[in-house]
Amino acid sequence: MPVKFYQPENQVPLEMHKVRIVQKLNLIPVEERLRAIQAAGNNTFLLQNRDIYMDMITDSGVNGMSDLQAAAMQVADDSYAGSETWNRAKAAVKTVFGVSNVLPAHQGRAAENILAETFVKPGMVTLMNFHFTTTKAHITRLGGEVIELVDKKGLIPQTDDPFKGDFNLDQLRQTIDEYTPEKVAFVRVEAGTNLIGGQPVSLENMLAVTDICHQKGVVSVLDASLLQDNVYFMKTREAQCKYMDTKEIYHLLASRFDIIYFSARKLGFSRGGFIISSDPKWTQMMMEYVPLYEGFLTYGGMEVRSIEAAAQGLLESLDMEYISQGPEFIAYLVKELDDYGVPVIKPAGGLGAHLNCSEIVPNLPHNQYPAAAVGAALYIAGGIRGMERGTVSEQREPDGTERYAELELQRLAMPRRVFTLSQVKYCADRVKWMYDNRELIGGLRWVEEPKVLRFFFGRMKEIGHWQEDLVAKFREDFGDSL
Ligand code: F0G
Repeated sequence: MPVKFYQPENQVPLEMHKVRIVQKLNLIPVEERLRAIQAAGNNTFLLQNRDIYMDMITDSGVNGMSDLQAAAMQVADDSYAGSETWNRAKAAVKTVFGVSNVLPAHQGRAAENILAETFVKPGMVTLMNFHFTTTKAHITRLGGEVIELVDKKGLIPQTDDPFKGDFNLDQLRQTIDEYTPEKVAFVRVEAGTNLIGGQPVSLENMLAVTDICHQKGVVSVLDASLLQDNVYFMKTREAQCKYMDTKEIYHLLASRFDIIYFSARKLGFSRGGFIISSDPKWTQMMMEYVPLYEGFLTYGGMEVRSIEAAAQGLLESLDMEYISQGPEFIAYLVKELDDYGVPVIKPAGGLGAHLNCSEIVPNLPHNQYPAAAVGAALYIAGGIRGMERGTVSEQREPDGTERYAELELQRLAMPRRVFTLSQVKYCADRVKWMYDNRELIGGLRWVEEPKVLRFFFGRMKEIGHWQEDLVAKFREDFGDSL
């Protein structure tokens, strides 16, 4: 599939698109980066974009749009009800997934809210390979519990297993029996499992989960937000998918899961959210919440231009040349880092590269937030903004004790169709410098800790003077370079 170079040493992932609109970037001096991260309470979410060179905080809502998406936005039909734009979005869903029952939501978490409101009652459990932050927040808010059943291989930072997001199927059967099907609100498969490093789930495993759900009479849900990366991995890593058309895979999944929802900020290279189903009974159950929380059924809180862009973007999610760009750039970054000896989650997944901070700063305990500390250090090192995916991203237990993350990761997301390979190389180079100076990196402590989704707004302070020391070392090594 990838284009082969004549000289093997020249082999790099080759983009099958060209850039026609550009945005100016700023790389501010290291002393200013220090001031910026401290002013942001060491929380990369609180940095200003003008102070960032490579924004790798997320792949959500920041993907490069195609010419066809930009063109589609010009013909958006802005009407409150019965918009033609919505008809085009439904047609795109029908093409990609083969289903006609579609509800709009303003983004992925809004779809999760509707799903949770419909199915979760106090005392119920939801079973999933792994939680996502917003998914879990909606479920626990309604008195439900999240039980994670990812196969244990998923939590081993470095393996060569191609599908680390797979469910442990025996545990799934046992857990449904243990709680009884009536107490299971739904089983949720997260494609491209976000919090364990964008690791995919095999088609075989997904289908086995839906079989178990059907046998036991439990609702099966697919979070397809990261499905395009997952489909790429199915095609390239799973023998039975090699000769399947991408569309066949999407259609097969939609015919087997009761409900599929996704963030169009990821799947669709746009913004917004969708909930789809092959059986109208599920969409009927959820429908009433759309006008209540989102907007009328033909826009659901989405801006019509975003709906048009999502419709076209969904069609592009069938195109292997488009959907391979993200995973191939990520694989390139992961290989560079691995060759440098930097501990990174392997194999490379979708979404981004994930630094294994427990190994980068092994002396920092969970309650000094190693993943957040590495994030602050990397911003100082290169103006690169990643995202904490470790203990800070967890919720405290109901009794207030800290819940330590299974993996302390710093995520370097790779927005699709956005960066050039020289920027990716710069990123690898600055991470390597940070890693070589890891003994300088110290911990963080809370200054302001919000109760819900604390990683978004919380503020932390560095313990000691390690950040100033890192800046001094940067000047020593890089002279007057930015
Ligand atoms: N599900 C998954 C697997 C996600 O990765 C996300 C978002 C959502 C649901 C929620 O969708 O943002 O449109 O409300 N992930 C983003 C990220 C925020 O940066 O990983 P949303």
